[in-house]
Amino acid sequence: MASVTSLTSAVHQRLANALTAALPEHADADPLLRRSDRADFQANGILALAKKAKANPRELATQVVERVVSGDVVQQVEVSGPGFLNITVTDKAIMENLAARAADPAGRLGVPHAERTGTTVIDYAQPNVAKEMHVGHLRSAVIGDAVVKLLEFTGEKVIRRHHIGDWGTQFGMLIQYLDEHPHELDHKADTVSGEEAMSNLDRLYKAARKLFDSDEEFKTRARRRVVDLQAGDPHTLAMWQKFVDESKIYFYSVFEKLDMEIRDADIVGESGYNDMLAETCRLLEESGVAVRSEGALCVFFDDIKGPDGKPVPLIVQKSDGGYGYAATDLSAIRDRVFNLKADTLLYVVDARQALHFKMVFETARRAGWLGDGVRAHQLAFGTVLGKDGKPFKTREGETVKLEDLLDEAVERATAVVREKAEKVGLSEEEIVENGRYVGIGAVKYADLSTSAVRDYKFDLDQMVSLNGDTSVYLQYAYARIQSILRKAGDARPVAHPELELAPAERALGLQLDQFGETVLEVAASWEPHKLAAYLYQLATLLTAFYDQCPVLKADTPEQVENRLFLVDLTARTLHQGMALLGIRTPERL
Ligand code: ARG
Repeated sequence: MASVTSLTSAVHQRLANALTAALPEHADADPLLRRSDRADFQANGILALAKKAKANPRELATQVVERVVSGDVVQQVEVSGPGFLNITVTDKAIMENLAARAADPAGRLGVPHAERTGTTVIDYAQPNVAKEMHVGHLRSAVIGDAVVKLLEFTGEKVIRRHHIGDWGTQFGMLIQYLDEHPHELDHKADTVSGEEAMSNLDRLYKAARKLFDSDEEFKTRARRRVVDLQAGDPHTLAMWQKFVDESKIYFYSVFEKLDMEIRDADIVGESGYNDMLAETCRLLEESGVAVRSEGALCVFFDDIKGPDGKPVPLIVQKSDGGYGYAATDLSAIRDRVFNLKADTLLYVVDARQALHFKMVFETARRAGWLGDGVRAHQLAFGTVLGKDGKPFKTREGETVKLEDLLDEAVERATAVVREKAEKVGLSEEEIVENGRYVGIGAVKYADLSTSAVRDYKFDLDQMVSLNGDTSVYLQYAYARIQSILRKAGDARPVAHPELELAPAERALGLQLDQFGETVLEVAASWEPHKLAAYLYQLATLLTAFYDQCPVLKADTPEQVENRLFLVDLTARTLHQGMALLGIRTPERL
């Protein structure tokens, strides 16, 4: 194992040992260690422990201090306040720890795998066939992609599922219309662009809708189509497939713009569970989990009631025999647990679907499909708001097209990149490429840097700003380091544990030391925004370091090497961290 023990856990271990020595009857006591501004670390656990052991906290703290083994790692321990401990680590320990991270042969910067791993099925990036994608689909894709990368990095087996909306009564209308106007989707799939595909679908949808609303006979024919579709009539299914294929051209073009890999085999839409629906309903009815109510098959909950005080059921099968969204999700759970052998089910879905998932999970628990060993969790995300704080719409009140939005982000970012391009010596090709990485990175970072469940404002001006908590700021921090490394000539990054460190070097070093623990925590709690916060803090400490510590003009050749080492490891950490968020770090910016 090339994973590196962090200084935090090294100090933690020494304190825990000292605590045990001082109070043998409380062997599992936690010193509650955290990073601190006053010293390197502060331990707050002694207060509570003293209370438990009926001891004087300051006295206990003093006893612990006497027993801490100092020297290699711990430089100094002091009692402060009512019984806190302030701990400083040695410069040597910091540099040796970082050297070990940099030398990790697996290229993981010493980040360990999670202690316990399993199989997670993650449901994300699930747009709907024949419909435009909107900002909600963007959030699901961006958050889901980051969580996939984080989990895989920590050793989890991850199975991706794109639960696209590819089934339902609206297809009757579309198919019937296409059947009557066969030339309308009459082309080879690989000859149209994503945009053309979407405009074809949009045109068809509008035309079909118009006819459906105005022509009773068409309406009847469309309804009959739904029956044919559900019965699996081959001709009807072939037409349906055309809509799915055309939509996929569009989806893939958006995901490509997002610089995101979506694999065909992972697209298992609602239709993928058709064969299971009848059985799902039968099992629920036989076990008594679901009951017939006014012809529909329903599941009731004590605590879920409508505004009128009447219980709101989860409808698994409608009174006309049709299956809906819930039956599909319940069948998907059976598939994911029993066939895919998942022990964690994650759903990256809009918070407005929270009630649906609450009812679906509870139903699956009652049916025994979600046992004690299986976690099901909706990673719910909030709404994307416009600058005005209202749900994001165009001036005309329509939902904003995702493609337009991404194009605009790239356009603005390209302008930002172009401004500095001459000084950096970028070719036109590099300007265009970096503009994409900066623009798409900005959109992803804005989404990932706030807690998922909160709403956030989509403000492009702020997103591509060079200052503040933006991906551009982080990307520039990375590129600036690369530029220093290029200018270093023969000087190489080498760690020198014998050197005394300046305060800004220590602060940067201690932050670098936290990378592994941050990644593990963030992956375990599915909270990418905490990784974004970590990286932003790292870049801020780097800026402070530059202000105080010249790199290439440092006093001695050893110091130059040591500082090159620090910035190089910072760059590698930024690169790895951003990659886990799905964001690129261009070498020259
Ligand atoms: N297609 C749905 C939508 O656009 C999201 C699907 C979420 N996943 C699920 N298993 N229900 O809202």
